[in-house]
Amino acid sequence: MKKVLLVFGTRPEAVKMCPLVLELRRRGTVRPVVCVTGQHRLLLRDVLEIFQVTPDYDLALMEREQSLDGLTAACLTALGPVLERESPDLALVHGDTTTALAAAMAAFYRHIPVGHVEAGLRTGDLAAPFPEEFNRRTVDMVSRYAFAPTAEARENLLREGFDSSRIWVTGNTGIDALQYTLRQDCADPALDFLAEGIPVVLTLHRRESLGRPMEEVLAAVRTLAADMPGLRILCPVHPNPQVQETVYAALAGQENIRLTEPMDTVTFHHALAGARLILTDSGGVQEEAAALGVPALVLREKTERPEGIQAGGLLLAGTGREAVYTQCRRLLEDETAWQAMRNRPNPYGDGHASERIAEVLEQF
Ligand code: UD1
Ligand code: UDP
Repeated sequence: MKKVLLVFGTRPEAVKMCPLVLELRRRGTVRPVVCVTGQHRLLLRDVLEIFQVTPDYDLALMEREQSLDGLTAACLTALGPVLERESPDLALVHGDTTTALAAAMAAFYRHIPVGHVEAGLRTGDLAAPFPEEFNRRTVDMVSRYAFAPTAEARENLLREGFDSSRIWVTGNTGIDALQYTLRQDCADPALDFLAEGIPVVLTLHRRESLGRPMEEVLAAVRTLAADMPGLRILCPVHPNPQVQETVYAALAGQENIRLTEPMDTVTFHHALAGARLILTDSGGVQEEAAALGVPALVLREKTERPEGIQAGGLLLAGTGREAVYTQCRRLLEDETAWQAMRNRPNPYGDGHASERIAEVLEQF
């Protein structure tokens, strides 16, 4: 039986790779071996528990305030022996993280074919998101199998000279994950808090948002909460110490804002599903908002997920205080504007992406 080594290390990769692990196990035609780098610790553990995936290898690499180069070097060094011991027929990586970059490089150095899940996303700007745009381009460059979530991602690859025989349009496995989590019952004080008023969910964590852009966005949210006391704004704060510091400094102490630890993905997905408005700089949350039909403001200057904006459910609000405030108020007070963004077509998949990828893996 062919062996596939799935390597991932962060929360978003786990959310999007676990459905594929479950699908490969269900089929039993390709042997999945799971290696987590532990780029994230707490965030990763939560997701593995939800999907009941026990890794075959846990490299436990996370360090507080880890640097990009230090983590890349640690991943490369630690992944070598795993690749040598397992000698897989294919290494599968996801997206654009340091883990994905290092795992693709380590496999490439050993002439092990690489498959890239969520291939072809581009902003066209190496500075945004940083360093993810570099990572995803490099991973695509060394990949033999590119699993593009959308036709647009496929077009990006074709424009860069990828042979069409190496690309499969599969949908995003994140939508498979959403179906899995929303099937589960869920009760949580955070959901009770949201139910007390007009529910809004906020997440922020991108490196290029740190500093002034994040402060501007948070100032807008703070004023919004003060001006609209009926809002209930839930913000699970990313464990990155710089994010924690900035978010707590700006938003702590406001009655209708609840700052929490990162939420388990089942509860978080239920919170998103019940929200009136989502505010986020996350990649995965953009896709989830579009899939749930909940209007979302993308708190970034650029996105590699333009399909949701074209479909009308996402709006690129930027990070300017005025613009973010104005767009929030418009969507929260103007029913017609809100309705126009609600339940727009979801371009990110039908919840069967893992099956499509598994079918390709069976045949390779
Ligand atoms: C990484 C990804 C980014 C993804 C994000 C998801 C890269 C280059 N970027 O960015 O694409 O959107 O994860 O969250 O890989 N930390 C903890 N506990 C955890 C996780 C993180 O304490 O469970 C802290 C650590 O101090 C760490 C910091 O958060 O140093 C930042 O994490 P890191 O994975 O290095 O980068 P992100 O900016 O989170
Ligand atoms: N998420 C979660 N709990 C939270 C916040 C986010 O489970 O408190 C999930 C979210 O639903 C999505 C993923 O984490 O599936 C997105 O991760 P993140 O925003 O950290 O990274 P990105 O997608 O931007 O790379």
